[in-house]
Amino acid sequence: MAEKTEYRIIHTAVTGSTNSDAKRLGMAGESDLMILADRQTDGRGRLGRSFISDEGGLYMTMLFAKHIRPTDALKVTVYTSLCVSRAIDRLMGLAPKIKWVNDIYLGGKKLSGILCEGLLGEDGNFTHVVVGIGLNVSGELPEEIRDIATALDEHTTSLPKIKTLAKEIADEMYRLSAWDFSDILREYKNRSCVLGKRVRVKRLGREEYTALAVDVDSDGALVLRLDNGGEERLATGEISVKVE
Ligand code: BTN
Repeated sequence: MAEKTEYRIIHTAVTGSTNSDAKRLGMAGESDLMILADRQTDGRGRLGRSFISDEGGLYMTMLFAKHIRPTDALKVTVYTSLCVSRAIDRLMGLAPKIKWVNDIYLGGKKLSGILCEGLLGEDGNFTHVVVGIGLNVSGELPEEIRDIATALDEHTTSLPKIKTLAKEIADEMYRLSAWDFSDILREYKNRSCVLGKRVRVKRLGREEYTALAVDVDSDGALVLRLDNGGEERLATGEISVKVE
């Protein structure tokens, strides 16, 4: 993912979206950058959703100059989910689970989400990869997500500073960039809370259905076994599953 090992940090109190900031800076020729904000006023999630970004959370985006196909963004999301989960493990000894493809869960509730985007070049490939990470660290969660979300302070008394956590995640991203994707995938699957479970699948323009999640393939797609015996690969869309 990243060949260099050093990155610049821009820490701001408030911004619209760190992903949007990173895109602007990428277009201006920057790379190897972490943008960290104490809160966002226009935080964005996957599938066009908004991402509540009040003070007390970690909102960071990593910007890398990387020439990849847009379809490889799924692999970047897999890799980032693993890095976030390992960083939490390393700093706090907690073992979060990964819900395909971009959600990190602790104690059955969502702790963190990842939004991977890119800057398109003239050849239709990305010139830069923009990896946004939102993570609930401390403080009261907004009413509307309290039943489904959790924050780190509910699970540990040795909470690191947000900047320390952000750096640990970024360092992990640089460390794991030397790994083969097959190794990333192996550990991602070990940390999955989806494999072997029946999941409800939501795809644009299709009725919801359930299937058995059996694997994550070498592109990062979720492999589903359908009730009619067939197999299907899910690269977009989302699933819901009961996470213990
Ligand atoms: C999701 O759960 O759907 C992904 C959420 C990603 C949120 C992060 S917060 C930092 C970065 N800036 C954004 O606007 N979004 C990402």
